[in-house]
Amino acid sequence: MTAAVAAAAYLHHVELMSADPARLAAYYERAMQMKAEPFDGGRFICRGADRTMLIGRGADKQLGFAAFACRDAEALAGIRRHVEAAGGKLEASPSPLFDDRAFAVRDPEGNVLVFGLAKVPAGAPSRDIRGPLQHITFGSTDLNKMEKFYVETLGFALSDRVRDETGRMTTCFVRSTHEHHSVGMFLKPEAGLDHHSYEAGEWTTIRDWADHLGALHIPIVWGPGRHGPGNNLFIFIKDPDGNMIEISAEIEYVRDRPVQEWKHEPYTLNSWGPAIMRI
Ligand SMILES: [Fe+2]
Repeated sequence: MTAAVAAAAYLHHVELMSADPARLAAYYERAMQMKAEPFDGGRFICRGADRTMLIGRGADKQLGFAAFACRDAEALAGIRRHVEAAGGKLEASPSPLFDDRAFAVRDPEGNVLVFGLAKVPAGAPSRDIRGPLQHITFGSTDLNKMEKFYVETLGFALSDRVRDETGRMTTCFVRSTHEHHSVGMFLKPEAGLDHHSYEAGEWTTIRDWADHLGALHIPIVWGPGRHGPGNNLFIFIKDPDGNMIEISAEIEYVRDRPVQEWKHEPYTLNSWGPAIMRI
């Protein structure tokens, strides 16, 4: 049942909340090459090549929702059936960017996930630096419950886990496409948004992002490095609200392989050395 819906939905857009949506939108316009415009309900919409974000008014560093687009109506219906069969509670979609077949579900820690069909594609052909929106991660105080929800209720596939020396799970990665993770979860003292990520594809494209960011005097706050799970190269920057933004490349394509278990240590998080340990 799990494999039936994996590869059925990709991260299409996210809504970030901010006490100053205009300032945050202006930052994403500069840093992430996304054209920012006022949108409905006092929000802003930021659009770039294969990357779309809504910015609503609210508390800083809060996720409004993460919205996953399905490739077609059949795939969307499959996820809906899966959620209903698993006893998941469907809610109305808060996304204005999906059509009326969309629905939302809430994970055990209150993160709102939307599944639907995009009214317009996430992006159009562009000469901007490549970086489709690719994954989102959460802090979690109960990873076992979160893993169970993502795998059993949503039908995402489990890619990797990280465990500490006592056997406690400290990180969990699940996927809804062939890419190693669409959602990552880190054991932290508090649940909530951890970071979101854009997939540049190739190392040289991370170079182009770093050149672009350097020209804007936007500092890299972590990396370059390579994650163990997912094998992706990365740099991180931080937006003015304090949200961490990842630009990644070479993320592993997972087809058929067993779930791997990694040791909880800095070199798992960054095989090149310095790591931002969540716990
Ligand atoms: Fe990430």
